[in-house]
Amino acid sequence: ARTAAVIPAAGRGVRLGPGAPKALRALGGTPMLIHAVRAMAASRAVSLVVVVAPPDGATEVKGLLDAHPLPEGTDLLVVPGGETRQESVRRGLEVLPPGVYDVVLVHDAARPLVPVETVDAVIEAVRRGAPAVVPALPLADTVKQVEPAGVPGTPEPVVATPERSLLRAVQTPQGFDHDTLVRAHTTVTGEVTDDASMVERLGLSVVVVPGHEEAFKVTRPLDLVLAEAVLARRRH
Ligand code: C5P
Repeated sequence: ARTAAVIPAAGRGVRLGPGAPKALRALGGTPMLIHAVRAMAASRAVSLVVVVAPPDGATEVKGLLDAHPLPEGTDLLVVPGGETRQESVRRGLEVLPPGVYDVVLVHDAARPLVPVETVDAVIEAVRRGAPAVVPALPLADTVKQVEPAGVPGTPEPVVATPERSLLRAVQTPQGFDHDTLVRAHTTVTGEVTDDASMVERLGLSVVVVPGHEEAFKVTRPLDLVLAEAVLARRRH
């Protein structure tokens, strides 16, 4: 049973403010992408990491990865990404050698600090037979559903308040049976925000394992402040 990890890292990261593509921005002096790659390689089960680079940044990403070598026993591939996250993941899946990896993780470069325990828990649940596994946490905030396409600049009408105790905030790495994920990516169309939802659309079961606070997504400037603090605490 072999596991590969695909890391989509081709996003611009506009919500983080102006600058380099998000995955290439530094955290504790090291690019976020390098942290994410190391987080996957930290699992003894992961023997291949596929990095999906910004379409015009594959050479730069290869250079960065050469400068930060992985431990023995983890192979690395770099491919250029696409217009959407979905397209980027699909390109990563396409370069997996056929018949070798039965478990595939998909991990956002934007979650550089996920602990290895979370990675291993996801892999373990797939190995035990779940076609799709997502790490997730209960919500601190109450969530409201609003009217679609509210008038910009005016208050948005609320249409529902889903019961908070039944909601989970989903993280990555998400783990999949290889063939299931490939089928999802070749048959499901339309925009999605995570890979597991494509498997849900196939009518297959998706299960949740406990996520981790430190697996948060670096999206906005404040997230960078938090990520730096988490890193500093680890280095103590
Ligand atoms: O935009 P969002 O935060 O959902 O992006 C999640 C991950 O998907 C990031 O790691 C980003 O680099 C990646 N992505 C990608 N290709 C795109 C858009 C996003 O690989 N076209």
